[in-house]
Amino acid sequence: MKPRGLHSLLLGSLCVAFYCLCHADNFLKSGNHEWKKLIMVHHWPATVCKEIENECTEPPDYWTIHGLWPDKAEDCNGSWHFNLDEIKDLLPAMKEYWPDVVHPNRSHFWKHEWEKHGTCAAQLDSLNSEKKYFGTSLHLYEDLDLNSMLQKLGIRPSLNYYQISDIKDALASVYGVIPKVQCLPPKQDEDVQLIAQIELCLTKGLQLRNCSEPEPHPPASSPTLSVCDEGPAFYPPPRRAQVGLPNSRKRPVF
Ligand SMILES: *[C@@H]1O[C@H](CO)[C@@H](O)[C@H](O)[C@H]1NC(C)=O
Ligand SMILES: *[C@@H]1O[C@H](CO)[C@@H](O)[C@H](O)[C@H]1NC(C)=O
Ligand SMILES: *[C@@H]1O[C@H](CO)[C@@H](O)[C@H](O)[C@H]1NC(C)=O
Repeated sequence: MKPRGLHSLLLGSLCVAFYCLCHADNFLKSGNHEWKKLIMVHHWPATVCKEIENECTEPPDYWTIHGLWPDKAEDCNGSWHFNLDEIKDLLPAMKEYWPDVVHPNRSHFWKHEWEKHGTCAAQLDSLNSEKKYFGTSLHLYEDLDLNSMLQKLGIRPSLNYYQISDIKDALASVYGVIPKVQCLPPKQDEDVQLIAQIELCLTKGLQLRNCSEPEPHPPASSPTLSVCDEGPAFYPPPRRAQVGLPNSRKRPVF
């Protein structure tokens, strides 16, 4: 019957409209891969080991790369799979400066970084292949030279606490931009956060820029890390006795 058919049609349209409304957010999240800045994320291996509660064997005693992350996009191209062969010539540098701290012999960490972040960074011509993405990240790591900067600033792993604001101010004074410092919050039996990550932000032209700006949706990073609370923080020495970076450290070879 006619009226009844019309009625169903109307009801059907309403349902469709309602469905769209409810799922618009998801649609935007999956379809919108725009981003504004890149974040060069360094992490402190001793804290990474602590976070994973894993007995790392000989974690590096220098800051290593976690990743180069576009700020607002992830998993941008599910069909662009990681291929280790493409970065064969970078492997010696990758193993030294971008190791999977917890599983030093695996390449899964690189696959993860590529698929989650690299496929989004690849919107830039300067980063539109695995080789460019990983190679450029290694170059940035070398240029930013965080390990030497921290040493020059006298910020060394220590049994004493640092004030987060002192570390941020010191880094801002050498880089000329505001970094972001992330911490592992204290566990029950501890009273102080651990320094975990130092992030330096870059424009799409790969120039340093401030990390801070009012952000309605802060980028998701490791689930248990958060921006450090102002106040004291512990910069834990690596398990090995030797702290700091020997001056004779090899430079990456590309
Ligand atoms: C996704 O990656 C594949 C494989 O590299 C490529 O052919 C395709 O153009 C990419 N798609 C987009 C939207 O970039
Ligand atoms: C794992 O790494 C260690 C130290 O770098 C090396 O001696 C060993 O041969 C590696 N094992 C494999 C299976 O690659
Ligand atoms: C970075 O932040 C500092 C302090 O808020 C500000 O003075 C400076 O202008 C900012 N730089 C840029 C490029 O926005």
